[in-house]
Amino acid sequence: MDTTLKRLCVVLLACLTLSACGGVDPNSPLAQRKAIFKDMLKTSEDLGGMLRGRVAFDGQRFDEGAVKLDSLSHQPWKQFPQVKETDHTSSTDAVWQKQARFQELARSLESATAELVVASKERPFKSSTLTPAMNKVQAVCEACHKEFRDH
Ligand code: HEC
Repeated sequence: MDTTLKRLCVVLLACLTLSACGGVDPNSPLAQRKAIFKDMLKTSEDLGGMLRGRVAFDGQRFDEGAVKLDSLSHQPWKQFPQVKETDHTSSTDAVWQKQARFQELARSLESATAELVVASKERPFKSSTLTPAMNKVQAVCEACHKEFRDH
């Protein structure tokens, strides 16, 4: 075998192995909800960062971020299938066993982000209303992860 062909084989093999071990179909509900959760984290870190002075406060950006987070907060729940996936999920069995509690926390997140949107419409922006509203959102994230996510 000439070296170019050999190299090509190595690359091909590596690709095959990678997709066998780490592959999550990007269209699967699992990949979809992970992507939504990641976006939620990024958005809430941005908002929290503005309130804590880690990044400069930008009213328009805060406003848009709050609306985005509120929209995202409705999206992950339908990406939890009837039956738990066997691989690559950090959801605990409790998600499926304690559906009522899980859904209750999902609704709590939706109302916390809705309240954040209301707070972000007030002018002038007041950290005394925005900070508690943001803390409430983050408390729901943490509460649900504690009960329903494996770390
Ligand atoms: C009602 C429950 C619930 C709420 C509320 C919730 N999460 Fe999660 N989150 C989960 C579960 C369950 C998983 C594990 C998903 C999986 O791997 O199957 C998860 C996973 C994640 C992940 C990891 C995604 C990955 O790539 O594996 C991030 C990041 C995350 N959540 C951020 C957030 C943020 C930020 C909030 C609040 C704004 C939030 N979550 C609110 C239940 C919740």
